[in-house]
Amino acid sequence: MAKPACIVIVGTGGTIAGVGAGSAGAGAGSAAYRAAAIPADRLIESVPGLAQMAALQVEQLFQIDSADFTDDKLLQLAHRVAALCTRDDVGGVVITHGTDTLEESAYLLHLTLATAKPVVLTGAMRPSTALSADGPANLRDAVAVAAHPSSAGQGVLVVMNQEVFSARDVTKARSMVVNAFDSPWGPLGAVVEGTPRWYRRAARLHTHASEFDLAKIAALPLVGVVASHGNMRREIYDAWVAAGARAIVHEGFGGGTVPAYLRSYLEGLRARGVLLVRAARSQAGRVIRNATADDDGNGWVTVDDQNAPRARLLTALALTRTTEPAEIQQMFWHY
Ligand code: SIN
Repeated sequence: MAKPACIVIVGTGGTIAGVGAGSAGAGAGSAAYRAAAIPADRLIESVPGLAQMAALQVEQLFQIDSADFTDDKLLQLAHRVAALCTRDDVGGVVITHGTDTLEESAYLLHLTLATAKPVVLTGAMRPSTALSADGPANLRDAVAVAAHPSSAGQGVLVVMNQEVFSARDVTKARSMVVNAFDSPWGPLGAVVEGTPRWYRRAARLHTHASEFDLAKIAALPLVGVVASHGNMRREIYDAWVAAGARAIVHEGFGGGTVPAYLRSYLEGLRARGVLLVRAARSQAGRVIRNATADDDGNGWVTVDDQNAPRARLLTALALTRTTEPAEIQQMFWHY
């Protein structure tokens, strides 16, 4: 009889692998600690009964604070997980990850992994040594979701605080609480008594239905993000152009507004070979095409409901296939 497929836990660091000064007093809480200190195999030992939930394999890909994820590291993670998913003996993958950039890694995987096998990211808001550390329960729930047949084909998932989110739109919305993650469209489901219970499905293209071919992507085109604030300066865009950016995500006010004093300058970026992508600094909502700017006339792309960090990744992937703004715009409608 064939052995049941295993779940591979890929450790990358973060607070889930963090240690503080102790479980009480200074350094015990959520702020003063060292991220990425405990190896993934020791994390597993901290979860009672985990080994009985599924056959597990563990590998330590990185041991980093997730702030240190570069595009190179992100692609390394994606290629490694893609290779794991091609193995017949692997039923799913759980990635332990720092929470700060977890949403970016999850989204790149969601857009590029050509698999229907469950791939689940999880992390922790409290280091392993804190009173009421949340990492062990999150890891248990992530394994439960990765091992459950109902999780197949749902795209890359993020499991935190008993909730299951789609990588398409989950974000770290709060910095200091265990219910840190949220989505404007809500979670897809919950982990109830160790079993995923689903309430909705991701409607847009992902993973096995995606057109982005990881095997052909050795590096991501450079895409910058510029955040809006009062008294903006054009030099920041010039710096991205000088660095070789192929596109700049302008994280505009409200629904993506471009200040009047920058408009003609930004309109000129296209002639310099740089695509402008209009996103919004408001954390939930949409950028409406041709509403506060002449997107069609300028050859600009709008992000629909995507936030700027994810819009950066989708733009970079889009640029591996086309430089046509109209085609890139279609990708924002469909992913
Ligand atoms: C990190 O993102 O690596 C540190 C913070 C965290 O995991 O919560």
